[in-house]
Amino acid sequence: MTEWQKANWRSKPRVQMPEYTDPEALTAVESQMAKYPPLVFAGEARRLKQHLAAAGRGEAFLLQGGDCAESFEQFSADAIRDTFKVMLQMAMVLTYGAKVPVVKVGRMAGQFAKPRSAPTEVKDGVELPSYRGDIINGLAFTPEARIPDPRNMLQAYTQAAATLNLLRAFSTGGYADVHKVHQWTLGFTESEKAARYREMSTRIQDALDFLTAAGVTGDQAHTLHTVEFYTSHESLLLEYEEALCRQDSTSGNWLAGSGHMIWIGDRTRQPDGAHVEYARGVLNPVGLKCGPTTTAEDLKVLMQKLNPRNEEGKLTLIARFGAGKVGENLPRLIKAVQEEGAKVTWVCDPMHGNVIKSATGYKTRPFDSILREVREFFGVHEAEGTIPGGVHFEMTGLDVTECTGGVREVTDEDLSDRYHTACDPRLNASQSLELAFLVAEELVARRAKAAEAASA
Ligand code: PEP
Ligand code: CO
Repeated sequence: MTEWQKANWRSKPRVQMPEYTDPEALTAVESQMAKYPPLVFAGEARRLKQHLAAAGRGEAFLLQGGDCAESFEQFSADAIRDTFKVMLQMAMVLTYGAKVPVVKVGRMAGQFAKPRSAPTEVKDGVELPSYRGDIINGLAFTPEARIPDPRNMLQAYTQAAATLNLLRAFSTGGYADVHKVHQWTLGFTESEKAARYREMSTRIQDALDFLTAAGVTGDQAHTLHTVEFYTSHESLLLEYEEALCRQDSTSGNWLAGSGHMIWIGDRTRQPDGAHVEYARGVLNPVGLKCGPTTTAEDLKVLMQKLNPRNEEGKLTLIARFGAGKVGENLPRLIKAVQEEGAKVTWVCDPMHGNVIKSATGYKTRPFDSILREVREFFGVHEAEGTIPGGVHFEMTGLDVTECTGGVREVTDEDLSDRYHTACDPRLNASQSLELAFLVAEELVARRAKAAEAASA
């Protein structure tokens, strides 16, 4: 393989990327951004890699979540705070269940570009180019809005920088205090199912009270007040990625400066394509979406390209098959990993294989299908003796109505109330937390079985 350079992707076939119509404007934006500071630092990306390695060994659990697509219009401090908050709550529930640290990674501060199933969209007989995320073009259904504008990259960078700044402040500035657990289930008052969650939150509260009463102070108490929170996004718009790529001064290696972790989507994982070419050269942890069309042969080539030194924590495989399809797909990919002796961290994305159209015409995801896919993922790993290393959700801390179901049941008719996503439907705060409780139950059950097997 030739020596990697950050611009080499340009000579490879590219898909899902815009054709900019004004090359001069594009070059101007790229050279401007190339002078901007990176958003993240090499040491942080390396540290996340270590955490992901631990998740791959079953010594930690990854919680990755956030918007399908971040939006310029819906950008607000409150929205960031609310998503951050619900992720911390979920992490606490999972930590309690799994009894391992939870690695928290937002789909945030860079999750702007979207692959689409069709290049154009038709509404009332009018055909326009598809919306590809705010970093590329506008959501409004007008010919002007849909023209890709390279200057959007500057706004995306600014928003990502401001988001990260706030996340860093929340993480260490006292906001991330876990001693607020009792407030978490306030929204779950109605149903009987909710009693389970209240019981678990009471137990978590008890554990925290015990620590306080036992005088856990200093450094140890500090860890309960601060949190490590990382960012991630799909590395889709390669002009943006290349412009933020930086050489790490200590190692000479290349850093994707756009976020701590980047991933390659299910539609852009061609082994000889531009996206794989870019991602293979950066030191960051890399995610790879695996869907029903991922073949074992492709996966083997991709693992070799994306992690040639078989470094632990470097490669996360994000399985997204759809409920009912995990059993026929995951085992054959696990086998491919085992045949290669590859070190990977397996994560479940139960969102992207479970999109349906509701009776009321909205793109939605039923809560039960999401949960079912997670359970199937756990089940296959248990049967194969491999490790389920984490989950990947599209979610928000806001009280939206985009996915159906959950304890505070969202029906098909409710979808129109607060359907705000710029792209795919997200779990709302209550559904996210409920899912965390249910995933925690899976982890508790697994631990119990493992303990039983060990003592038998
Ligand atoms: C996404 O994560 O928003 C996405 C488009 O996923 P996938 O590539 O798995 O379809
Ligand atoms: Co999505």
